[in-house]
Amino acid sequence: MLSWDDFDSEDTTTAPAAKAAAQPSAPLTDSPVMENIAEGSVEDARQISADDSDAIARAKAALDELDIQEGLDDLEGSAARVQVGDKQMINARADLNQLVPFKYEWAWQKYLDGCANHWMPQEVNMTADIALWKSADGLTEDERRIVKRNLGFFSTADSLVANNLVLAVYRLITNPECRQYILRQAFEEAIHTHAYQYCIESLGMDEGEIFNMYHEIPSVAKKASWGLKYTRSISDPTFTTGTVETDKELLRNLIAYYCVLEGIFFYCGFTQILSMGRRNKMTGTAEQFQYILRDESMHLNFGIDVINQIKIENPHLWDDAMKDEATQMILQGAQLEIEYARDTMPRGVLGMNAAMMEDYLKFIANRRLTQIGLKEQYPGTTNPFPWMSEIMDLKKEKNFFETRVIEYQTGGALSWD
Ligand SMILES: [Fe+2]
Ligand SMILES: [Fe+2]
Repeated sequence: MLSWDDFDSEDTTTAPAAKAAAQPSAPLTDSPVMENIAEGSVEDARQISADDSDAIARAKAALDELDIQEGLDDLEGSAARVQVGDKQMINARADLNQLVPFKYEWAWQKYLDGCANHWMPQEVNMTADIALWKSADGLTEDERRIVKRNLGFFSTADSLVANNLVLAVYRLITNPECRQYILRQAFEEAIHTHAYQYCIESLGMDEGEIFNMYHEIPSVAKKASWGLKYTRSISDPTFTTGTVETDKELLRNLIAYYCVLEGIFFYCGFTQILSMGRRNKMTGTAEQFQYILRDESMHLNFGIDVINQIKIENPHLWDDAMKDEATQMILQGAQLEIEYARDTMPRGVLGMNAAMMEDYLKFIANRRLTQIGLKEQYPGTTNPFPWMSEIMDLKKEKNFFETRVIEYQTGGALSWD
């Protein structure tokens, strides 16, 4: 626990703990001098005195010109106290700087859950991965391709997601508790990009080759450019919602990023790397992916909730044309991911093959469709990788840090059962 004694003196070489032991601190009381200072008025503080430098005098004079009303007028939303009924997911007129009262308790809960799951990439032990990656016969060529392709795709994909959130979505979602979660998600995306960079650096890979893969490898490039198409118009700083067409444009973006990018495009790669971990290969990299997958399943669930809430509040947006468009987007996403599976697995590897992955992606696409109220398009598809659902549902103890320490001591990281 922090002690105020640590902050009592500057420029001391005595260790705070030793200092605290040497002399008990006296209780703090207000001195007469402090009381005198407190008697001055707010206006007096602004008076320019002979001791003030030119810079200080100019700063005080500039504040005399400050028009408070002008600043407050620039804030988003009305000046009134916020009522729950004023809050809306898009196009709200309530003050966006007043977090409470909450309208969407689930968004606040997801923010709290995200914070409780905080982790950092450097905490994962990469020693075994480095040895395996550098040994000539540690991994097969097919396994090495999977590691490189996935680090190539993910190292830039999470930046695309983060940029879309910060530069486009955040501004257009007009609800403070959802914005609070979006800020948390944006930081998690930074941690994910950090995790991929950490893997790439630890394994001594060619950073230029990996980070530029989304330009050089067609199956990676297609996924990135499909996502970017949906961010183009809404990331224009002059774009605003408020008409049927612009509200639909935001909805398309949310479906593209939450349901397809985070909800489909991550799944072939996650399954491949986690399957490697279950076979005791690249366990550090797999552990990083496992933490990321847990974050991602929360991002996905948040996005689904936001999309469904927008539909409830704006039923006129969810017409037959929009439903068909949303279905098409999810089917296109599944198709691109099936192609990525074939590119990354020309042969069977790690107990799976491209055909099994195709079934899994159809199963996932059915889930995404039904989660936003659309009809399944691949009837009768079953999940060939039930262990993936178990990993996603993995519950951590409340005391997250303590459990991680135990996991490291046993050298086994998270459970692969
Ligand atoms: Fe991410
Ligand atoms: Fe994400």
